[in-house]
Amino acid sequence: MEASTSVVYVEANRMSQRKRTVIDMLRESPGFVSGEAISRTLGISRNAVHKHVKSLRARGFRILGVSHRGYMLEEEPCRLIMGVIGELTEGSMFGRSFRYYDEIDSTNTEAKSLAIDGAPEGTVVIAECQAAGRGRLGRRWTSPAGKGLLFSVVLRPELTLAEAHLLTVVTAVAACAGIEAQTHIPVQIKWPNDLYVDDKKVGGILLEIAGQQDEIDWVVAGIGINANTEFTELPVSLRRSATSLKMAGGSPVDRSELLARVLLSLEQSYLDAVTNGFDRSLREFRDRDYLLNKSVSVQTREGPVVGEAAGIDDHGALLVELPHRHIRRFHSGDVTLH
Ligand code: BTN
Repeated sequence: MEASTSVVYVEANRMSQRKRTVIDMLRESPGFVSGEAISRTLGISRNAVHKHVKSLRARGFRILGVSHRGYMLEEEPCRLIMGVIGELTEGSMFGRSFRYYDEIDSTNTEAKSLAIDGAPEGTVVIAECQAAGRGRLGRRWTSPAGKGLLFSVVLRPELTLAEAHLLTVVTAVAACAGIEAQTHIPVQIKWPNDLYVDDKKVGGILLEIAGQQDEIDWVVAGIGINANTEFTELPVSLRRSATSLKMAGGSPVDRSELLARVLLSLEQSYLDAVTNGFDRSLREFRDRDYLLNKSVSVQTREGPVVGEAAGIDDHGALLVELPHRHIRRFHSGDVTLH
């Protein structure tokens, strides 16, 4: 499928503290907030309040204004604002080249083809919606338009193939840190690549690698996060096992800022890993290990293996303690709580 929109870089457009206060006041109120209350809080004129509201509308916030009642936030912006992402990531490697699509098959597929065509490290492919989003083990990844974060980053690390697989760990811990920095919602990782909040999946990582044993050509790190997805927008079959940051935190998330934070966090973790090794990321994964000490069932070709999750080893493999203290390693597979 052809992408309908492609933006490489849009001029910076950071939200001022005043606009932030206006939007926070509107977010906190279920009804109208008077222009008078906002002007008092900010110490500015009603006319200036109106100008801030106008500019917030231009950024995609749907704000109802009714005379004698004030303003009410009807809807958060549905599109990512590339100017915000561009400004917050300015100067960073993952802030150099964005490809932004309204709709695309899969950001991973697109990032792969860009990587094959020679796209530089740090190229970021972002979409509001995917027609054929992919998850691990051939699964699909669905997300309503404008509600999730769907993006992929092209990496070209100087690592061996075995080391490159650890980039799933790096990407997962970076995504958790970025989400926490933006929302203060604690996030855990369910081995190997699921992001968990409140015992439910809120996001996932799909890492794809091309290269030889000793030399990596490219890696595509794809991240999907349910940001502002509503309960009723989740597929019925996933309503018990999935959640969104909005559902967990009780208020909508600024997706542009969230994306910028995750990119910055990913860049930091990635550069640390390729420079200093994977110790830090492994430590952070262990601190966020959702499965640790839980009774789990790992699906294998020979059937399910049941035991107690005992962390991950230095290669990122899952350790499961079986009867008689026997530890078995799993390098891939599907794990469920038992
Ligand atoms: C999983 O949970 O199995 C991984 C899900 C990864 C989904 C993301 S969304 C952005 C990127 N593009 C894709 O097609 N998949 C990843």
